[in-house]
Amino acid sequence: MARLDNKIAFITGVARGQGRAHAVRLAREGAQIVGIDLAGPLPGVPYDSATLEDLEETKRLVEAEGAKAHLAQCDVRDLDGVKAVVEEGVARFGGLDVVVANAGICIPQTWDEVTPTSFRDTLDINVTGVWNTVTATAPHLITRGGGSIVITSSLAGVKLQPFMVHYTTSKHALVGMARAFAAELGQHDIRVNSIHPAP
Ligand SMILES: NC(=O)c1ccc[n+]([C@@H]2O[C@H](COP(=O)([O-])OP(=O)(O)OC[C@H]3O[C@@H](n4cnc5c(N)ncnc54)[C@H](O)[C@@H]3O)[C@@H](O)[C@H]2O)c1
Repeated sequence: MARLDNKIAFITGVARGQGRAHAVRLAREGAQIVGIDLAGPLPGVPYDSATLEDLEETKRLVEAEGAKAHLAQCDVRDLDGVKAVVEEGVARFGGLDVVVANAGICIPQTWDEVTPTSFRDTLDINVTGVWNTVTATAPHLITRGGGSIVITSSLAGVKLQPFMVHYTTSKHALVGMARAFAAELGQHDIRVNSIHPAP
């Protein structure tokens, strides 16, 4: 029996990178995968954006592990959209056990290059997007009787990182968000952790 047999995981930013890696690994451990990605132009970033082909490739890789994947193009800033995909996944697979709030953007800029737009976009995706993700999923974990929520912060969420005031601000905010959710969701046997990858 695999560690995550009969478990269902919801992952944001699942088209590539760490989100895809989480999807493939959780699938290998036995979980069915529900996931979303913007899979389109990201605001202001200096790197290529993920595509619908990337999202398809994640689906293919998950299915190659013998799991099912319910993946959709959706923006974490759209709470109703996130709720809709989560509800589709729950209806299809029968519940939800694991949440990985991973989607995020990074726009390297010196403090005096940060604009109202780049500051707002970073906070909207990296902070409000995570709040949307937990808000849309936690009721389903409560229904299930417990679960695990993993919030992807960053090294920039525990230490300083220059040339990204908005990003560092957003990733520190996630530490507080994880603690605050943990304080209220613990009574439902839901663990909430932030993780802090380095570059
Ligand atoms: N790469 C690093 O060095 C590093 C270090 C520490 C933390 N992180 C964090 O890890 C997470 C994943 O990063 P990654 O390196 O895999 O990046 P990535 O750009 O390869 O993947 C992020 C995915 O999130 C998606 N995404 C972005 N905004 C979205 C939105 N509004 N709605 C839905 N999907 C959206 C993107 O389309 C992309 O597929 C991010 O939160 C990032 O801040 C990354």
